[in-house]
Amino acid sequence: MSDQILPIVDIDLQLSGQAPEEIMAYALSKFKNIAISFSGAEDVVLIDMAHKISPGKVQIFSLDTGRLHPETYRFFEKVRDHYSVKIDIVFPDTMALNNLVREKGLFSFYKDDHKECCGIRKIGPLRSKLLTLDAWITGQRRDQSPGTRSAIPVIQDDMAFSRPQEKLVKFNPLANWTSQQVWAYIRQNNLPYNELHDKGFVSIGCEPCTRPTGPGQHEREGRWWWEEATAKECGLHEVNTKK
Ligand code: ADX
Ligand code: SF4
Repeated sequence: MSDQILPIVDIDLQLSGQAPEEIMAYALSKFKNIAISFSGAEDVVLIDMAHKISPGKVQIFSLDTGRLHPETYRFFEKVRDHYSVKIDIVFPDTMALNNLVREKGLFSFYKDDHKECCGIRKIGPLRSKLLTLDAWITGQRRDQSPGTRSAIPVIQDDMAFSRPQEKLVKFNPLANWTSQQVWAYIRQNNLPYNELHDKGFVSIGCEPCTRPTGPGQHEREGRWWWEEATAKECGLHEVNTKK
């Protein structure tokens, strides 16, 4: 694609009709300093695709909030072993975290809302990580959160985390895939997955803020269930809600 001078919305128009593998190939060919943001089933699909294009080369990072399920930590290790890759685990700022839990305890999100805790445990660390990158790749899908993700593009300027005068590009190669397509890929390719999926969990975040979903429930209903559907973004994908 000769798109160097095309506006990003036009590149998105061209890429959105392509398969995730092709979008991944495009992302890796255009950016050297790019990383996959890894926590869930979708992200292993991305890692697998990247690995097939450029074995062992892609950077991967995970935000360790300190509140993940033990199964999730084991899953991170399974992925590390499966691909023999390094995963950059990013931690929250100790002082900020210490202030929060000293002042408000370990479960303040049930009383206030999840924004403050997510801000310290996820967004701050993500911001520091993204300062070191030119582009990042996420496993977001449009049907994952009707209230906030139904229009996500496959490539976008990440206005929420860019530095002054420096662009940060965000890829969502699975934007047009359904959960069924993700799981078909995982099964066909025998990829590692979080064992919580076998216990009724669909969308998995931190342990105190995630619960299994029942038949007929949308996957997002298992996250921050005490809050409004439109508030169910922790800020990692703030560009989705920025107008
Ligand atoms: S969240 O914003 O509600 O927590 P979600 O769980 O839907 O996000 O995941 C969407 C994408 O955000 C994932 O595919 C992954 O790219 C990124 N992501 C979410 N949580 C993390 C995490 N702890 N570490 C790294 N990336 C994450
Ligand atoms: Fe804190 Fe819950 Fe957000 Fe995790 S998901 S950072 S525990 S509020």
